[in-house]
Amino acid sequence: MMYRFIDFEIKGDCRGSLIALENNSTIPFNIKRVYYLFNTKKGVRRGFHAHKKLEQIIISISGSCKIFLDNGLHREVVLLNRPDRGLFLKSLIWREIYDFSKDCILLVLANEYYDESDYIRDYNEFLKEIENG
Ligand code: TYD
Repeated sequence: MMYRFIDFEIKGDCRGSLIALENNSTIPFNIKRVYYLFNTKKGVRRGFHAHKKLEQIIISISGSCKIFLDNGLHREVVLLNRPDRGLFLKSLIWREIYDFSKDCILLVLANEYYDESDYIRDYNEFLKEIENG
């Protein structure tokens, strides 16, 4: 399976909703980095990379977007439109994110610090990396 969803428990009451994410429990790894994409311009498609080692959980905490996933064998498009659902991506998954709604805020949790050398930004190089296992 190239991804899995993790559904978070909503602590809701008459005042509204709250979700808490914790290291090594709700989130199945140690969170070292959090970043978020917002104010994404109309028609933008971004990503176009895979990671050698990095694991991430991606949550559309506001609005929606689509994410194209490719593990070298299968391709799939996933809709992210729920603040209570995380998309868990392990390494070596090519991703492209598009169809951002104007109000989309995409929260990303990662198990490592930013490291450009962990990125595979060339699709053919990605396929080679998969072949070499
Ligand atoms: P980029 O990798 O181009 O985004 P994407 O591949 O998701 O479209 O990142 C945009 C810029 O932000 C680039 O200059 C690298 C920088 N950046 C960081 O400094 N730290 C981070 O954790 C991330 C994800 C990006």
